[in-house]
Amino acid sequence: MRAEQMRMEDETIRLERVSTVYEGERIPAIREVDISVHGGDFVCIVGPNGSGKTTLLETINGILRYTSGHGSVFGMEITSNGSAIRKRIGYVIQNFEIDPLSPFLCKNVVMSGRTGKIGLLRFPEADDWDAVRESMIRVGMERWWSRPIGKLSGGEFQKILIARALAQEPDVYLLDEPYANLDIRSRHEISELLTEIHVAGPTLLMVSHDVSSIPSSCTHIIVMDRGSIVGSGSATEVIESGVIDKALGMRRPNL
Ligand SMILES: Nc1ncnc2c1ncn2[C@@H]1O[C@H](COP(=O)(O)OP(=O)(O)OP(=O)(O)O)[C@@H](O)[C@H]1O
Ligand SMILES: [Mg+2]
Repeated sequence: MRAEQMRMEDETIRLERVSTVYEGERIPAIREVDISVHGGDFVCIVGPNGSGKTTLLETINGILRYTSGHGSVFGMEITSNGSAIRKRIGYVIQNFEIDPLSPFLCKNVVMSGRTGKIGLLRFPEADDWDAVRESMIRVGMERWWSRPIGKLSGGEFQKILIARALAQEPDVYLLDEPYANLDIRSRHEISELLTEIHVAGPTLLMVSHDVSSIPSSCTHIIVMDRGSIVGSGSATEVIESGVIDKALGMRRPNL
């Protein structure tokens, strides 16, 4: 029983024939998806625009409710445990729009990643501010400590979102196009940072439509096309199978 329980917990994310249909739509954005992610895996999800990558991440963290199948994270069923699951997931959202007049300062946005840890009835303490500072240093943004986020460039804001996830100290990172808006040097630095996070133990799922951006430390690849998983396995297996080129390179218009 104990060994059985250990194995269940080791399987951090499990989706069985999960489909998600957006409200008012008929066609599922993800269709009968099966996934098994273990603690410490570094999974890259690749696929063309509209293939369901963001939908998959938001189904995993319970922001979207799946419409059929079964899904669990940390051994908890997703639909009825969304907030407990999200406390342990650092989500770096794709295309977050910032209001240029936003008065929020970088340090406070990064601190908001710790809301789940701090709780609503407590103020941040010295340890929390240390975690925020450390996270900003790790993405190279410490000099923007007191800068309003509305004044940041797209790439700088992307780094602040990554720092926010780091400050949360989550067990799982869901990173949706974390390299969006980053120049080559910053991509390289963030790629090294993701490798460091992976080595330290957490589980990572990173979405990208650019295969060249897959860090070499990535252990597994999932290839999506038109809402379905069309290839998955160890990084080398999937790259050698040619399925990525097929999904990304030879896509016919969906008329
Ligand atoms: N709120 C929504 N309502 C209805 N359909 C949606 C909604 N959001 C996404 N979709 C549709 O679901 C499908 C999958 O979208 P999703 O955003 O998951 O793709 P993606 O792989 O993340 O694409 P990209 O690489 O462009 O970010 C697309 O066909 C999209 O049009
Ligand atoms: Mg997306």
